[in-house]
Amino acid sequence: MEIREQWRSRWGFILAAAGSAVGLGNLWGFAYRASQGGGAAFLLLYILIVLVVCLPVLVAEMVLGRSTGNSALLAPVKAAGDRWGILGWLFVIAPLGIGSYYAVLMGWTLDTFFHSLFFGLPADMSAAKTFFGSISSGSSVLLGQLVSLLLTAAVVASGIRKGIERISRIGLPILFGLLLILAIWAATLSGTWEGYRTFLLKVDVSQFFNPSTIRNAFTQAFFSLSLGIGIMVTYASYLDRRNQLPKEALSVASLDTAVGLLAGMITFPIVMSFGLKEVISGSTVGTLFISIPTGLGTLGVTGRVVAVLFFALAYIAAITSSISLLEVPVSSLMDRLGLPRSKAVFISTSLLFVLGIPSAMNLNILGKMDSVFGGVLLILGGFLLSIFLGWVVPRKFDEDLAGCNSDQRVRRYLKFMLRWVSPPVIAFGLIVSVIDLVQNWSS
Ligand code: PFF
Repeated sequence: MEIREQWRSRWGFILAAAGSAVGLGNLWGFAYRASQGGGAAFLLLYILIVLVVCLPVLVAEMVLGRSTGNSALLAPVKAAGDRWGILGWLFVIAPLGIGSYYAVLMGWTLDTFFHSLFFGLPADMSAAKTFFGSISSGSSVLLGQLVSLLLTAAVVASGIRKGIERISRIGLPILFGLLLILAIWAATLSGTWEGYRTFLLKVDVSQFFNPSTIRNAFTQAFFSLSLGIGIMVTYASYLDRRNQLPKEALSVASLDTAVGLLAGMITFPIVMSFGLKEVISGSTVGTLFISIPTGLGTLGVTGRVVAVLFFALAYIAAITSSISLLEVPVSSLMDRLGLPRSKAVFISTSLLFVLGIPSAMNLNILGKMDSVFGGVLLILGGFLLSIFLGWVVPRKFDEDLAGCNSDQRVRRYLKFMLRWVSPPVIAFGLIVSVIDLVQNWSS
């Protein structure tokens, strides 16, 4: 059995966890969900859910990883016995499900990046649709998926410090720099205010009660934070006692939310300035890949440079997330079967590739995988985590946080929220989401 690695530094952990959180969910998912009619109600619900419900669960997930020093598959069993083995399995199955179609989305992103760089942008909407058809079908989609998985595997195979921590330290600052540059550029477009207003600022009170808006807000919060499915358990299992988890959790959530908002400040001005509102409000998973290049195509060289930067930044964001999805099964195989890292990476990557083939071949399946694995299962995982650390092993939560000298008031607040607020609110979100999903599928 290999010796368990640890992060080199506190910031190494924060950047890796933020790298997992910041991903296509912020760039593609945020735009996709915010544009489905929720407007400012979606945004407010999303931020409220992150602050009130997700933060305590994020700390709980980190506590579970650090206090047991075990991978996501084994941590619940180590903390509370065999009966909780099922939670460990949920933590492994959900990242495998998400990782399988996430690699397909990464493949599209990579394709769009190269296409913008070498061949230019589509001249109009029909050219964009043809282009999207070509990247999302046939052998090119499998190639993009495979290349993305191989890159992810190469990082994970290099280990915690030399692989995951290093790429997060390099990737995240670049990503922030690019985002800022693009957001400033987008603020100069003609439709900027119209874009902010329509998608981010317009409050329609009835939307607070719309089940689809509620589901979108819950899904976005959990998906974007990589919460509820063992990612943070895994990453925190490589931590030592010196870190005060509440502060780390707050940094991760703030970075993640800031990136979501900045991304919206790029995509929505583009959408409004180039008259693409109709395309985006009929949102499908492909929206971003059709609307952004089409809009930018009308701007000549500037548009092309912006597209290249945007898709490069999306790819960097995606890879720091996909490595976290792969690390969960990898560390579980290492802990459970004592496999060396390289073998665990090979097995897990092959599995992800095979599981992703249906999503690669069929957009409908991809959308369904996203709704189930990237939506409902995450929310379910978050609910179970809040019950687990709030009620089943509450002493673990107390002891671990007390051991790292975190502020007592913060601890009390978190514990209260974890026990009394997160479970009922997440249960509500889960029920609304399941009903809304079933209704959407049957209509
Ligand atoms: N948080 C990532 C994103 O926003 O793209 C995706 C993700 C990674 C979701 C890991 C869930 C997860 F467990």
